[in-house]
Amino acid sequence: MINLSTEYMGLKLKNPIMAASSGLTGTLDGVKALEKNGVAAVVLKSIFEEEILLDTNQQLKEADENPMIYSGLSETLDYIDMHIREDNLGKYLELISKAKRSLSIPVIGSINCVSHQDWMHFTKKIEEAGADALELNIFLNPADSENKEFEKAYFKVIENVLSQVSIPVAIKISKYFTRLSLSVKALSETGVSAIVMFNRFYSPDIDIDKMSLDIGKLFTTPEEQSETLRWIAIMSNKVECDLAATTGIHTGVDVVKMLLAGAQVTQIASTIYKNGPDQVARILKRIEKWMGEKGFDSVDQFRGKISKAYEGNPAAFERMQFMKYFSEIR
Ligand SMILES: Cc1cc2nc3c(=O)[nH]c(=O)nc-3n(C[C@H](O)[C@H](O)[C@H](O)COP(=O)(O)O)c2cc1C
Repeated sequence: MINLSTEYMGLKLKNPIMAASSGLTGTLDGVKALEKNGVAAVVLKSIFEEEILLDTNQQLKEADENPMIYSGLSETLDYIDMHIREDNLGKYLELISKAKRSLSIPVIGSINCVSHQDWMHFTKKIEEAGADALELNIFLNPADSENKEFEKAYFKVIENVLSQVSIPVAIKISKYFTRLSLSVKALSETGVSAIVMFNRFYSPDIDIDKMSLDIGKLFTTPEEQSETLRWIAIMSNKVECDLAATTGIHTGVDVVKMLLAGAQVTQIASTIYKNGPDQVARILKRIEKWMGEKGFDSVDQFRGKISKAYEGNPAAFERMQFMKYFSEIR
């Protein structure tokens, strides 16, 4: 009997496939359809730090401009400040609690943040609404050459959030760190329960007829999975928390590769957009078929088998592979 169950962030999952945060996980109907087709957990669509701060600022400005309405009382402003924030999050919190009531799989809240400003107390609300865990998509822009505190900011965000909530916290990161291996290791030692590798930036393109910037592809292709695969394999034996793989995972074969590299779970979005929620059921079938062929009856029996190649000196391993393959091509 093949058993696909796995643990992630201390949560028991029935298999290693999670619905990644996206528009697919932004409604109750969406998450219900995903559960019906077999995903083991859902990461809800992110709420953006800016959404909260912008709304608050607009209302505070209005209040300032209408002293007759708001009578300039600091308590009133405090109330508006709080009220707007609550409203902005209201729908999100409602989605969490409704999803928790309707689904039997774990529901993970998600915040996309760019700073360690005044948004962190909302994490507590997400916990109170019933979320089983929280994923922080820390979206610091590596193109920002003014931000000298770029990497330190990750640690500040984590420290602040961990002081607010007791549910497990994951961070979703980009690969743009000065030294990714050192940073991932240090981040894994902060008390987060998982690191999700990697988030995806908007990918620009150029229209050569109009000679203007164009929007690149919204959805990923399987070719984009190789960086995730490489870094999961490099880091899976070195971190103090779980690793979730995301980006370019489209088929059961892709999921098996990520597990062999050492991922605890996979998070998928594009393949569901392209093929519908029943793609999850097809992926699960393919994993079971492969496990049956190889004689594995649990995921733990083969997780991380390939990451062993990277043990010891991963840089030397990479160099050796480079020399072996590229130097032979004429
Ligand atoms: C339409 C769309 C919306 C997304 N929205 C979010 C989001 O709100 N928060 C987030 O962390 N990631 C978001 N993502 C990124 C996905 O969670 C995922 O990490 C990424 O798409 C790579 O996985 P994939 O190759 O399976 O698509 C979104 C992706 C897509 C395609």
